[in-house]
Amino acid sequence: MEVDLIIRNATVATASDIIPDQDIVVKDERILCLGQGLSAIFKAAKEIDAEGAYVTPGGIDSHVHFDQPMMRTGDTFETGTRSAIAGGTTTILAFAQQRKTDMSLYPVVEDYHRRATGNAYCDYGFHLILAEPTTKILNEELPVLVKEQGITSVKLYMTYEPLKLVDRQILDVMMSTRALGMTTMVHAENSDMIDWITEKLEAKKMTDPYYHAVSRPNIAEDEATYRVISLSELMDIPILIVHMSSKIAASHVRKAQTRDLPIHAETCPHYLFLKSDRLRGEHFEGAKCVCSPPLREDQMDLDAMWQGLRNGTFTTFSSDHAATKFDHPQGKKAGLVDGIASFRKIPNGLPGVETRVPILFSGGVLKDKITIQKFVELTSSNPAKLYGLGKKGTIAPGFDADLVIWYPSGKMTPFPLSNDSLHHDIDYTPFEGMGFENWPRWTILRGAVVWDRDNGGLVGKKGDGQYLRRGRSTLSKPREVFVNEFRP
Ligand code: URP
Ligand code: ZN
Ligand code: ZN
Ligand code: ZN
Repeated sequence: MEVDLIIRNATVATASDIIPDQDIVVKDERILCLGQGLSAIFKAAKEIDAEGAYVTPGGIDSHVHFDQPMMRTGDTFETGTRSAIAGGTTTILAFAQQRKTDMSLYPVVEDYHRRATGNAYCDYGFHLILAEPTTKILNEELPVLVKEQGITSVKLYMTYEPLKLVDRQILDVMMSTRALGMTTMVHAENSDMIDWITEKLEAKKMTDPYYHAVSRPNIAEDEATYRVISLSELMDIPILIVHMSSKIAASHVRKAQTRDLPIHAETCPHYLFLKSDRLRGEHFEGAKCVCSPPLREDQMDLDAMWQGLRNGTFTTFSSDHAATKFDHPQGKKAGLVDGIASFRKIPNGLPGVETRVPILFSGGVLKDKITIQKFVELTSSNPAKLYGLGKKGTIAPGFDADLVIWYPSGKMTPFPLSNDSLHHDIDYTPFEGMGFENWPRWTILRGAVVWDRDNGGLVGKKGDGQYLRRGRSTLSKPREVFVNEFRP
């Protein structure tokens, strides 16, 4: 039989297994079969020798911000997805953000389709950010968007003035997402604590980038995390708490999971590798690492994030790529007016869509901090399951042939990361200088090589990426267990 691609001599790693000596056969964008000696049976238009290296499912980054109006100097769908494939990510889920003035979600979603269509290097889908969840939106529009567009997740904010919802609005949303089987993502920080501290710090002229972290202490995340777990329990609804950074907050999640509540959580590379001392730095450089929740001060929190990756507290590991340029008047430098720093005005967020997969491979798997199976689960399989991407997230017959081929050990010269080597449209990386001992050698999107590090680098084209209609989460659903006789 004629097939499109055979990857020979692969060590296939999935969320459950490590299978040496495999040939992976690809036809019509899907994996046809895998096994030993298949390259002798099939005739392929293209063959790649993996030389015994790991082959893992393409990365799924389920939390990126591209082309959002709040981040005017950040990455577009073109530059963001270009960066994704160069770092082994073949699917991204970006946000379609409602502003409080948008009285319908339909034009919002259309607008993001316009930004993405024909521009993406990798496959993509949208989560909705609900900033003004009116009855019409919840009752009439969400069901249509689930059914017709396959948009099966929303993100809610407990903080940020232009986006935040109060608890009763969160309950309103949960009532609808519960009925629709949507995954509800929550940004959990206590808004009043943050605003109040910010005012006090400003009165004392403590406005350098570093004080951004002081204004958002762990306890603001811990409290909001516990609160939203309580809201979820009241409504009997699965949630995912995004970008977690605090040990105590993670322990709230862990305890809830032990009680069988369907609570999921996510953490990000910067909460594993960077501390808040990075916010100090001369010449306003600390602004490069301003994000929310902030980088934490105490190693204990970073260690807890690693532990949470290992013990299952975290379901997903995402970049939260929310990039703005540093040296740009509407980028990070918006927080520097007439030479005076104002952390309140610094756009929040860090770039990281390209580094997410290699950083966890090099800094996690190769350092024996997590297993390769756990790495696959966190970077690909679980996001596929949680967000209803049925054809992605593992290496098995019938699944999309989204694959990353690594270097066999010893084959790649270790290197210190430099922003010049990255493919985003951002003038810095917070991981500058970090050592990497491996990097995706080839990235394959539905059977086509889109990244070939040793021969031209980017070989995919914009427009290769397709819009993904998603189904429901297969990880959890309401349990029909309630706090009392009240039924949501
Ligand atoms: O600092 C961050 N994370 N900014 C991006 C928006 C968000 O809350 O995810
Ligand atoms: Zn957030
Ligand atoms: Zn400087
Ligand atoms: Zn985010």
